[in-house]
Amino acid sequence: MRELVAETRLGTNDLVAPLFVREGVDQPQPIHSLPGVVQHSLASLEREIEELIDLGVRAVILFGIPLAKDAVGSGAFDPNGIVQVALRRLRSRFEDRIVLMADLCVDEYTSHGHCGIVNEKGDVDNDATLDVYVKAALAQATAGAHVVAPSGMMDGQVGAIRAGLDGRGFTDTAIMAYSAKYASGLYGPFRDAVDVQIAGGGNRKGYQQDWRNFREALTEVAADIEQGADIVMVKPALAYLDVIAAVRATTSLPVAAYHVSGEYSMIKAAAANGWIDHDAVAYEHLTAIKRAGADMILTYLARWFAESAR
Ligand code: PBG
Repeated sequence: MRELVAETRLGTNDLVAPLFVREGVDQPQPIHSLPGVVQHSLASLEREIEELIDLGVRAVILFGIPLAKDAVGSGAFDPNGIVQVALRRLRSRFEDRIVLMADLCVDEYTSHGHCGIVNEKGDVDNDATLDVYVKAALAQATAGAHVVAPSGMMDGQVGAIRAGLDGRGFTDTAIMAYSAKYASGLYGPFRDAVDVQIAGGGNRKGYQQDWRNFREALTEVAADIEQGADIVMVKPALAYLDVIAAVRATTSLPVAAYHVSGEYSMIKAAAANGWIDHDAVAYEHLTAIKRAGADMILTYLARWFAESAR
């Protein structure tokens, strides 16, 4: 009876698996603060995706760890940057059997760890960064990304990327905008995963949102929709269920939520101590995000969920 009347149903179809690919390694590298997640080699990435397809996962989002970083994050738009190389291999092997999303940002590729071009004062220059994002979008689309996902929270990024893609004939490449992305303390394990330290102990409060703010999120979402976003995202997820619900109520576009690294690692750490039941809490948390109104959830739990086939 409970199954019959359940109001929220979570399925493998709802999940997007974030995957890391590291340049210059031939074996997957474990990530200490993200247990069970690895930095893939090109070969292990391919194997993982083949298995995810067999498990029924519909989409992955790729993050790259380059061998070398520089001031402008060239690895993000170089045709031979690690994500572009991976996308070419994956698209030719898997074609349209799985949706290939590419995180579009430069923080993994910049020596200072910021999501954009930094000026002499040490601040991110919004408009100079837009040019780099457009180059990255074109490089990712050319390499085979079905979806580009700008995550840097620069004003005007969606409009600039849409115009850039359309201008080069990539009218079918979708944009998933990290629209309401908060300057959260929950990204710590991710920064280990991509070897990012923000220069001078800095933070992203200059471009990511203050977590005290709710209306600002709706303004950001509205701007991204106006500029041509195809999917809008709220990130992180669990501390922002109010924002997810409100975004769901204000748009008919698909809404994504990112269950981020810290949210995942807290479950793993508490479960490893025997303090909570991993499977029960993981299922409860993902279902809550869906109940709040997310159509899709980016989560490091995607493979676990698909394997346990609920
Ligand atoms: C930026 C980006 C970040 C995450 C996704 N894209 C890091 C940041 O903004 O500092 C975090 C994801 C997670 O914590 O799982 N490229």
